Amino acid sequence: MTKLPRVASDTFWVGVNDHETDLFEALWPLPYGVSYNAYLVVGEKIALIDAVKGHFLPEHLRKIREVLPPGRSVDYLIINHMEPDHTGALEVLRSVFPGMTIIGNNKTLGMLEAFYGSSSSCRQVQDGDLLDLGTHKLQFHLTPMVHWPETMMTYDGATGVLFSGDAFGGFGAVDEGLFDDEVNLEKMHKEMLRYFTNIVARYGQMVLKAIDKLRQVPFTVVAPTHGTVWRRDPSMPVRLYGRWSAQECDPAVVVAYGSMYGNTYRLAEAVTRGLTEHGFRPLVHDVARTHASEVIADIWPRKGLILACPTYNTGLFPPMEALLAFLENKLLKHRLVGFVTSYAWAGGARKTLEDFAHRLSLEVVEPVVDVKGAGTPQDLAQCRLLASNLAERLSQ
Ligand SMILES: Cc1cc2nc3c(=O)[nH]c(=O)nc-3n(C[C@H](O)[C@H](O)[C@H](O)COP(=O)(O)O)c2cc1C
Ligand SMILES: [Fe+2]
Ligand SMILES: [Fe+2]
Repeated sequence: MTKLPRVASDTFWVGVNDHETDLFEALWPLPYGVSYNAYLVVGEKIALIDAVKGHFLPEHLRKIREVLPPGRSVDYLIINHMEPDHTGALEVLRSVFPGMTIIGNNKTLGMLEAFYGSSSSCRQVQDGDLLDLGTHKLQFHLTPMVHWPETMMTYDGATGVLFSGDAFGGFGAVDEGLFDDEVNLEKMHKEMLRYFTNIVARYGQMVLKAIDKLRQVPFTVVAPTHGTVWRRDPSMPVRLYGRWSAQECDPAVVVAYGSMYGNTYRLAEAVTRGLTEHGFRPLVHDVARTHASEVIADIWPRKGLILACPTYNTGLFPPMEALLAFLENKLLKHRLVGFVTSYAWAGGARKTLEDFAHRLSLEVVEPVVDVKGAGTPQDLAQCRLLASNLAERLSQ
């Protein structure tokens, strides 16, 4: 009897945990690793649902073989998402299971050709199509641009499992436990929010469309391609992704500052103190020292954002510039922002931040505090006023 986690009857997790990659997409840190979840549905026909990143193939294959009944082979590989973290092992899988038919939609098959050079032994499916494995009948739901154009979900009506691809996924390896009733939910939510904001956030509108479509699907288990499988509360990942996609925010504040010599820091500190005195508990980040991955994840569910930044070669201090480029790329909306800037001669940070707010249609809370040099008691009073105005707007 296999020790591999059983997601439902005849349905096994054959994924892998990756503790070797330190940056996902060569960008986002993985302090707790990441999993590439793949699932084997062992019916009268056998389907592998998604695969793993290329160099984890030996472990993946060992797990598949552990649950394959003697003398049987994998009949289908269903590709919910073509990104190489799920298809890197494809060519070797094909040679190991030569009779295997690859299932994807028209976008998937075009991409397979472009990445792996061959689209033979492929079957194209349309939205709503069924694949009959015998007892298990898999239905395909196209959910484009979550977060690539070919993304789709696969639903098994016999078990109620929704194989959701990257949607509802999270960072963090699953070796402590695969299921939502086995893991530390607080840590897992944080890693899920970081995954959502780092990878998927730009496509929030498409996630909302996918969620809307899922209203017709009576799933009881959500099995994504990364992170926790949800069987105790399958509605939870949908609610979380829905809220983050709609950019619904809590009345809370992040203070993100950069400072080379401490002057801007003192101004940011005055705003932070002011907010604390108004009952808020701001999360304060030094953008030069905390990775943007975490700062973005903290900003996302919060309505208030203070950006404090010195002028640097007529523009923004570079780590702040990098953070704002990410936020703009992720189409940040609906935030109340406050600006504290500093300079020594002609300035420039203030204008750059105001342009940023204008492009993203963010409401700027007054006053914008633009300080020459170390700042005066009046400047610090302006910082307090900014804190009090933001606190008031957040309390409305
Ligand atoms: C590398 C560098 C570039 C700067 N470029 C400008 C600039 O273009 N315009 C300006 O008015 N001040 C410029 N400044 C001055 C800083 O904005 C100013 O000293 C500010 O008080 C620094 O804040 P901090 O103490 O928080 O680092 C520059 C400072 C440094 C170190
Ligand atoms: Fe992906
Ligand atoms: Fe992925």
